[in-house]
Amino acid sequence: MQMVKIGLVTISDRASTGVYEDLGGPAMYDWLTSALSCPWHAVKHIIADEQALIEQTLIKLADEEGCCLILTTGGTGPAKRDVTPEATLAVADKVLDGFAEQMRAVSLKYVPTAILSRQVAVIRNQSLIINLPGKPTAIAECLDAVFPAVPYCIDLID
Ligand code: MTE
Repeated sequence: MQMVKIGLVTISDRASTGVYEDLGGPAMYDWLTSALSCPWHAVKHIIADEQALIEQTLIKLADEEGCCLILTTGGTGPAKRDVTPEATLAVADKVLDGFAEQMRAVSLKYVPTAILSRQVAVIRNQSLIINLPGKPTAIAECLDAVFPAVPYCIDLID
C-alpha cells in the first residue's frame, strides 16, 4: 500500500514562538493515528498567524510535498490576527462549503461559541485542506463530524 502524506499545520503566534506548548499538532496527529488504517506520514509545521506565511506553507504542502490531506489548527476565529480562512481561500481552486457547514453544525451541539469559527475546507491541486479550530477538543469534534467524507473526496481529486 502506498504511503500517504498528510500536512499538519499549527497556526498560532504563541505556539510558534514557544510561549505555549503546541497542543493542536499532537491532537491532530493522535486523532489520525486512531482513525487511519493505511500507512501515513505527517509533515508538520508550527507557524505564526501571518497570512503570507500560511499561504506559502499550504502551497508547499500541496504542490511540492504532494500531501493528499492538509489539516490546519487555529486562527479561524474573529480576532484581528485570525487569518487562517483568508489564507486558505487565497490558495484554493475550489471551496467545499459542506465541510465547514457540517463542522459548525456539529460543533454547536457542544459549545455555542462554535459559531465564532470561520473555518473553511478547500481543494488545491490534489490536496484537500481543512481548517480546524485551535482547541484540541474542537479538533476531535470537527474531525469526527466530517472525516467519513474525506477518503472519497481525496479519491475524487486524485
Ligand atoms: N468548535 C468546537 N467543536 N469546539 C470548540 O470548543 N471553540 C470555538 C470555535 N469552534 C470551539 C469550536 C471558539 S471559542 C472559537 S474562538 C473559534 O472556534 C475559533 O477558534 P480558533 O481561533 O482557535 O481557530
